[in-house]
Amino acid sequence: MSLTTPYYLIDKSKLLANMEKIALLRERSGAKALLALKCFATWSVFDFMRDYMDGTTSSSLNEVRLGHERFGKETHAYSVAYADYEIDEVVSHADKIIFNSIAQLDRFADKAAGIVRGLRLNPGISSSSFDLADPARPFSRLGEWDVNKVEPVMDRISGFMIHNNCENGDFDLFDRMLGVIEEKFAPLLKKAEWVSLGGGIHFTGETYPLEKFAERLKRFAGEYGVEVYLEPGEASITKSTTLETTVLDLLNNGKDLAIVDSSIEAHMLDLLIYREKAKLSPNTGPHRYMICGKSCLAGDIFGEFDFENELKVGDRISIQDAAGYTMVKKNWFNGVKMPAIAIRELDGEIKTVREFTYADYEESLS
Ligand SMILES: Cc1ncc(COP(=O)(O)O)c(C=O)c1O
Repeated sequence: MSLTTPYYLIDKSKLLANMEKIALLRERSGAKALLALKCFATWSVFDFMRDYMDGTTSSSLNEVRLGHERFGKETHAYSVAYADYEIDEVVSHADKIIFNSIAQLDRFADKAAGIVRGLRLNPGISSSSFDLADPARPFSRLGEWDVNKVEPVMDRISGFMIHNNCENGDFDLFDRMLGVIEEKFAPLLKKAEWVSLGGGIHFTGETYPLEKFAERLKRFAGEYGVEVYLEPGEASITKSTTLETTVLDLLNNGKDLAIVDSSIEAHMLDLLIYREKAKLSPNTGPHRYMICGKSCLAGDIFGEFDFENELKVGDRISIQDAAGYTMVKKNWFNGVKMPAIAIRELDGEIKTVREFTYADYEESLS
């Protein structure tokens, strides 16, 4: 039976390829890998991912609870700022809590005294080419950077989280930036028991030098006597998922346009935010179309792509690499039908794990 589009299709055999690389890296480097739920929180595949990863990290009370209840293993809590009314519950779900500022640590250290506490450091450099996503942008609120201010609170924390890699597939750049971190924060690192180097490292990519990366992490761990964590989001799920859509209409307004039953704004919002086009495969052939979403936003456009044949109403368009920062950000803009979530099992069987109905739309508002 063919499923009704739109739906996200998670392919476990492709997910497995990433998981095996993560497991190999853990083995070679000794580092632990926590899934960053901000990127991917589709818990139906957590049973599958659990064997290859050490747990989850979070950016809110809801995420830390989901990680604890649905993934288990080690659960890290982080948030840019905790509110008084949520801190007790956060602590109840977490093994470690990482405060974003010394002020938050001061305020909540006692409430979190029963679990491991840490602080986010901001090294002032990153690999981000996008101001919007650059944790080291001028006046960044993401973490403390002054060693002299952090040293006096070392009695209340045992480790740090540093997230400054963004979409970084360049090992040499990672290596250089880690060198800068070591130079800047050596006095703090020497007193730490653990350091999380955050996410943003594309080490599951086909050409990434995994062995060199593992060696660098191991060396860093040995030099400071720390347990190293990574928080892969995108690297965990890259290329594992497609967004399956169907052509609803065709127009020519100087260019051939195809409108599909999805929306970039509602279902792949990150592409719009970062002004990237979607990925289609194979993207070859003599027929070029602009693939457009069905929301009323004039710029609801997935991109221009080449096809072997002329498109017709009812054709299937598969948008590639649709797992990261998509399902966690999908929304009800225009009331567009929210994509279902389906999983292709290792034996090829496809099962739908979630469908969204009018009731979900109505209940998202009041
Ligand atoms: C603190 C932290 N950890 C992990 C991640 C995951 O990053 P990515 O999905 O690029 O691996 C992010 C992304 O913003 C982050 O801010």
